[in-house]
Amino acid sequence: MYILGIETSCDETGVAVYHPEKGIVSDLLYSQVKMHNEYGGVVPELASRDHIRKLVPLIKACLKQGNLASNQINGIAYTAGPGLMGALLVGATTARSLAWTWCVPAVAVHHMEGHLLAPMLEDNAPEFPFVALLVSGGHTMLVRVDAIGCYHLLGESIDDAAGEAFDKTAKMLGLGYPGGPKVAALAEKGTPRFKFPRPMTNRPGLDFSFSGLKTFTMNTLNSTEKTEQDKADVAYAFQMATAETLVIKCRRALQQTGLNRLVIAGGVSANTQIRASLQAMVEQEKATLFCPPLKYCTDNGAMIAYAGYQRLSVGQQESLEIFAKPRWPMDDLLSV
Ligand code: KG4
Ligand code: ZN
Repeated sequence: MYILGIETSCDETGVAVYHPEKGIVSDLLYSQVKMHNEYGGVVPELASRDHIRKLVPLIKACLKQGNLASNQINGIAYTAGPGLMGALLVGATTARSLAWTWCVPAVAVHHMEGHLLAPMLEDNAPEFPFVALLVSGGHTMLVRVDAIGCYHLLGESIDDAAGEAFDKTAKMLGLGYPGGPKVAALAEKGTPRFKFPRPMTNRPGLDFSFSGLKTFTMNTLNSTEKTEQDKADVAYAFQMATAETLVIKCRRALQQTGLNRLVIAGGVSANTQIRASLQAMVEQEKATLFCPPLKYCTDNGAMIAYAGYQRLSVGQQESLEIFAKPRWPMDDLLSV
């Protein structure tokens, strides 16, 4: 059973093919980062137009890479949300049209379920149940995962997502888009000079808030002369505060659920400092940390192909309706 996965929810066109015994047999990604960089962030209309240009050639190249003919594809999975409406529609219409032409089922995949299941693509995949920390540009969530499709939200950000805070901090520091990797690189030259707050950690619960941290970062930066060292010290303090905040909440989630497996996924899980801080915490808690390979932390087609396989293999499929939901709460997902 070969499943073609299509991801177009934001600024990456991702296409991959998954096979249950062989794993990911082909995987291609086209990033629009360079195009959006000029504008300091994603321009939705440009994103949609670029997905239109790149998606079909990428699908052809992906089949070629896997030595596959189109009649070997048994199902198509596409990201149906959450994300940018125009961008989602490109993936959804392409997937639905191909599925109709090839006479195979198509299934709509929730982007965050894709991220959540990405660590399953590793040889050392976590067993259920586990706690998952999903940290991307649009979401920060702690989820208890009992089985595929059986998700219980433990906490989430009440304002900005962690990735959004990284991106806004990068903007303040005059770094380009996307900001996460740039803030991380600058932080390596920083020193522990400033102490930033760890938001919402001194009250109970598992929700997050990152907008205050953003303001604190701005005020601290404005109190300096903005030399290169000042900026590096601010980046260091911001990254440390974010990492420690995530550590405190994840530790609490493991203790509250009594679980000993922690999975991290989403773009921010590529951050080396955050991975190291969480690794140190799980060792103290006698738990295990599972991370997706770096290339599957940020958006990609492989995670969508895998999540789609899980849903198609239990018979889930939909009508010919083109399904795109820019907002799509994870609790609406069907158990499989
Ligand atoms: O999961 P993702 O590719 O897209 C969304 O679903 O949002 O995540 C993108 C986010 C961006 O905010 C980006 O700045 C952040 O992940 N990111 C990072 C790193 N790499 C990507 N944040 C911190 N450190 C990184 N190394
Ligand atoms: Zn994502």
